[in-house]
Amino acid sequence: MLQGRTSSDTVGAIPDTVGGGLEREIDALHRRCGVYTKPAVVRRILDAVGWRRVADLSRSRLLEPAAGNGEFVVEAARRLVASCRGHGVEISASSLSGRIRAFELHPGAADEARSRVRAALRELGAHRRTADACAKAWVLDADFLLAAPSRDGFTHVVGNPPYIRWSKIPTRLKAAYVDRLPREMTGGDLFLPFLDRALEQLRPGGRCGFLCSDRWRFMAFAEGFRRRWLPALDVLSEDSLPAGEAFVSDVGAYPTVLIASRRPGKVPAARDRSIRKGKTFGELGYVVKVGPALGHTPAFVLEPHETDVEPELLRPWIDGSEIREGDVLWRGRRVVVMHGDDGEPVDPERFPVLAARLGRFAGELRRRSIVRNGADWRRTIDRVRAGDWTRPKLVVPELAKVPRLAIDRSGAIPSHGVYAIFAPDDDIDALYERLRDGKLARALEGISPRVKGGYVRCYKRFLLAIRPLR
Ligand SMILES: C[S@@+](CC[C@H](N)C(=O)[O-])C[C@H]1O[C@@H](n2cnc3c(N)ncnc32)[C@H](O)[C@@H]1O
Repeated sequence: MLQGRTSSDTVGAIPDTVGGGLEREIDALHRRCGVYTKPAVVRRILDAVGWRRVADLSRSRLLEPAAGNGEFVVEAARRLVASCRGHGVEISASSLSGRIRAFELHPGAADEARSRVRAALRELGAHRRTADACAKAWVLDADFLLAAPSRDGFTHVVGNPPYIRWSKIPTRLKAAYVDRLPREMTGGDLFLPFLDRALEQLRPGGRCGFLCSDRWRFMAFAEGFRRRWLPALDVLSEDSLPAGEAFVSDVGAYPTVLIASRRPGKVPAARDRSIRKGKTFGELGYVVKVGPALGHTPAFVLEPHETDVEPELLRPWIDGSEIREGDVLWRGRRVVVMHGDDGEPVDPERFPVLAARLGRFAGELRRRSIVRNGADWRRTIDRVRAGDWTRPKLVVPELAKVPRLAIDRSGAIPSHGVYAIFAPDDDIDALYERLRDGKLARALEGISPRVKGGYVRCYKRFLLAIRPLR
């Protein structure tokens, strides 16, 4: 079990239930999100929240939820020492140790932060034992999201929380967060539960300063966050800045400096979306369609290297194996659109290249039962019309151990083993947010029985019976 090394009211441990071998997951997460803040931006944020040398900080408490190598903590420490000196407060472990609390999940980064804090305090003339005690008390190697909240709260909260899409969080950490955090704060991006938990610990009248994305302002996944926090905050400024100005490393992000103060008054609890009842997808006008049955796929689906059909008759074709959570990995196969948008079959005589291709498969096509029952030997079992599939849609394999889904905007036609879900307003991103990262699996629990081998069936009637999670 990884654990904070010092005793404090906020020591957070990664619980044993998460399992061993987490070091690799933590390393992977840190590599993805350990994007450190430039000193000038750290100074700007500390100025804006009022953690200044001239202020009397001797009774203030500052929280940094994701310390990295300690840029915020070191600068906050320098200012704290200067403030204490200016206000006649002794520089000792007992006067300083409760003033700052920082969390860092990655032990190597936490060690570096503690060393930097120690060095900074020693440079400022603190006794070695004081520097040591403060470094240990201030920087905990613990998971901020799983740590017990501070009973005393904080007057200042600052930082640059980890920014990483929910689907990219390593598996066991993600499972622990899904298990322990309010559903409203999970599923979108990791920075959201960070802001939520940090704001919960900000005292009324306290100030926060975050370097973070402004996606919480408009993304569907942050609706619960907005409902909870917008009435409780006075946003004092929100300035975006180029990534190159904000971060030490090169990243393609568009950060904002958010400065806010917390209004007095109670903040409603974050809601667990899954327990709310509402209309089903079917009742809300969502449409679910399975891909067309072709009746001899090799005749109608061209492998990437094949070209023997008139190009205007071809559309991308995908099957379940090309659907990953969040992505369609198209292998380049195309299907022949055998019907016009009016539903009438295309006439192969008008398309000699197609006619020649189907001729090559004549034996297999003629042996099909629909043909023995009188159907034209060149037809597909279901209609294959391009226009049925052009709207943006979610694609879901019919059978999966863990149901998964992705957005398709390419107009691809799915195989007969893939379902497509269309939203009434075509807001496919919002629909995806509702079902992504295991939410589809949870929504299907109790609706779709597991079949042999532990597979879940994502049939049309099961998908339509889902009640959106909020
Ligand atoms: C974007 S960096 C910011 C570091 C520092 N605040 C700065 O601005 O330079 C985020 C840090 O959060 C850490 N982190 C990620 N998840 C965490 C968690 N659950 N609890 C504590 N720290 C975490 C990462 O290891 C990483 O070092």
